[in-house]
Amino acid sequence: MPNPGTIVGTHHLTFCVGGAQEDYDFHVRTLGLKSVKKTVLFDGEIPIYHLYYGNRVGDASTILTAFPYRQAGWMGKRGTNQLRTLNLAVPKEAIGFWADRLQAAGIERTEVERFRTQRLEFAHPCGIPYAIVGETDPDPREPYAGSDVPVEHAIRGAFGTTTSVREPEPMDFFLREGMNAEHVSSEGPHHQYRIGTADGHGRIIELVEEPDRPQGTWSFGEGTIHHQAFDVSTPENQLRVKDYIVGLGFTDVSDVKDRGYFFSVYCRTPGGALFEFAYSTEAGFLIDEAEDELGTHMCIPPHWEDRRAEIAQLEPIETIETVV
Ligand SMILES: [Fe+2]
Repeated sequence: MPNPGTIVGTHHLTFCVGGAQEDYDFHVRTLGLKSVKKTVLFDGEIPIYHLYYGNRVGDASTILTAFPYRQAGWMGKRGTNQLRTLNLAVPKEAIGFWADRLQAAGIERTEVERFRTQRLEFAHPCGIPYAIVGETDPDPREPYAGSDVPVEHAIRGAFGTTTSVREPEPMDFFLREGMNAEHVSSEGPHHQYRIGTADGHGRIIELVEEPDRPQGTWSFGEGTIHHQAFDVSTPENQLRVKDYIVGLGFTDVSDVKDRGYFFSVYCRTPGGALFEFAYSTEAGFLIDEAEDELGTHMCIPPHWEDRRAEIAQLEPIETIETVV
């Protein structure tokens, strides 16, 4: 019997934004997340921040990670065959609180009902669509309690993502056959799937058909979502998931890459979205900062040590926490 491996849920969501300060302010000051880690993008020739936000310790599925590309001048184009929307979970009773909070922050939001959930749709300052989704099921994730958002309303982490597709069939096959997803339901051009296991979070993958929309960019560039990472727990299971997907014919899968805090393989899906299958190392975010100091250092990976002077050229960020 072929073994497809196990996908637990979302691990993290990664995207390219504009300015580092506006990204920090949006995630920390407006959305009330914690700045869990400040480091640099491991790939490429130019220094780019890699800013991680999440709950107190950056648990899997609570992590949002941003590459601020405005200083480098790299623009992306949103479009179809690309991840479209980051969907963040809050308790359903918190929707009113968030409607008011976004309005007070001067952020335009639209209230919609989709797949039996109330949602607030809005945008990151760089244009990436976000939605706050009122969860109807209990969510045991520990929300960050250190912001001015009352903890009962705080963002729990990823609900999931929405990918824009020209036609849904190739992605439907990939999700069901490659990732053991269950098709939950469809509403017109919207299709909802559930992936993962009972102890996973961020398990809802949605597709929206946008057949007339031009193709979005896949390169790094301001204003676009780069990838969704799924938690595969262990190195053995990561290889099982990879081998199974390759065995279906999806050979656009990377080697295992050391990301310092986790190990990753990347896969270009037939819907255009870039998916990653990751497992956290035993130390995870504590490899270079103590638990009570997370987010308070500029963490330079060992292979960037000789380039500290270049990293110092990155735009300064005024933060709530003191960064040494
Ligand atoms: Fe990633």
